[in-house]
Amino acid sequence: MASAPLVAVTGAEGFIGSHLTEALVASGHRVRAMAQYNSFSSYGWLETLAPEVLAEVEIVLGDVRDPGSVRGLVTGAETVYHLAALIAIPYSYQAPHSYVDTNVTGTLNVLEAVRHLEIPRLVHTSTSETYGTAQTVPITEDHPINTQSPYAASKAGGDRLADSYHASFETPVVTLRPFNTFGPRQSMRAVIPTVIGQVASGSREITLGDLRPTRDFTFVADTAQAFIAVGTAPADAVVGRTFNAGTGGEISVGDLVRLIGKVMEADLDVSEDEQRIRPAASEVMRLVADASRLRAATGWAPGHDLEQGLARTVEFFRDPANLARYKTDIYNI
Ligand SMILES: NC(=O)c1ccc[n+]([C@@H]2O[C@H](COP(=O)([O-])OP(=O)(O)OC[C@H]3O[C@@H](n4cnc5c(N)ncnc54)[C@H](O)[C@@H]3O)[C@@H](O)[C@H]2O)c1
Repeated sequence: MASAPLVAVTGAEGFIGSHLTEALVASGHRVRAMAQYNSFSSYGWLETLAPEVLAEVEIVLGDVRDPGSVRGLVTGAETVYHLAALIAIPYSYQAPHSYVDTNVTGTLNVLEAVRHLEIPRLVHTSTSETYGTAQTVPITEDHPINTQSPYAASKAGGDRLADSYHASFETPVVTLRPFNTFGPRQSMRAVIPTVIGQVASGSREITLGDLRPTRDFTFVADTAQAFIAVGTAPADAVVGRTFNAGTGGEISVGDLVRLIGKVMEADLDVSEDEQRIRPAASEVMRLVADASRLRAATGWAPGHDLEQGLARTVEFFRDPANLARYKTDIYNI
């Protein structure tokens, strides 16, 4: 019997990467998974995966800023899923150099390794943040790029390098541009875990940043399937192209909090916290996806609506063992 195809994942120990790793194993792949090197030998969320999943996963500690580390990761893989990034917008105000090192130079290292080792496919991860506040809705892939934070700028830099490698060297890269993703294991930096985590810890007075921005929230299992869809589709359908992944739904942060209150059967008192408000020109006010290109090329469609995804997320954060991994009493950037 032929052995299962080997794929490599960067950022595998993170929120989306750990779900993608599980989904890749469930769809018959072996995964070489990079967790960022650290002196605690921590494998992040990969440590929580089921033993039968981990049996198909080779975990390597490494760093996308290091070219040799990346080459070792991708050698022999038939597809590389590049998710490693620094992703917090507020921290990108404080430490922008590290964002360029990780999101731009790190992506360059992945592109170089894929090019020289002739890996058949690279799935590069972008973000809806690269569009900035929607100028037209829903947002198609032809919407202008307008980078309102150092984070968005560093991700757009990686995207441009990916496009240039396809144009210059025919590197077989496809870019997936997820809209806001949520679900179990997400960091407390994001709004949904922030609210659910505070409520699950017994608080009813929720402090947040601006309540007006709207977002298109996609459940993480659906985002993982979008990655696999572009990673496994016929090359002529996807290579050299960028694909939005989002539901097409839109909700404001304020309405989202009310919905979480309903799902958690809790009466919430919401207030805006000055330190969480972003500089006005940096706040992306509206994001809503047109994912029809992805659907047409691969058949992908989200399998969960917002309430179903929230219920799964609440279940995760209500488990004391999971909640204990978080700091719900501080502002996590
Ligand atoms: N969460 C979202 O809503 C969202 C939306 C759009 C795009 N994205 C993109 O999806 C990807 C995954 O994001 P996430 O939400 O899972 O965040 P995350 O922070 O949980 O995952 C990112 C992972 O990258 C790893 N990493 C950081 N620097 C590294 C380095 N130098 N070398 C190796 N690994 C490193 C981190 O340890 C982390 O596990 C990112 O590329 C992000 O830009 C996320």
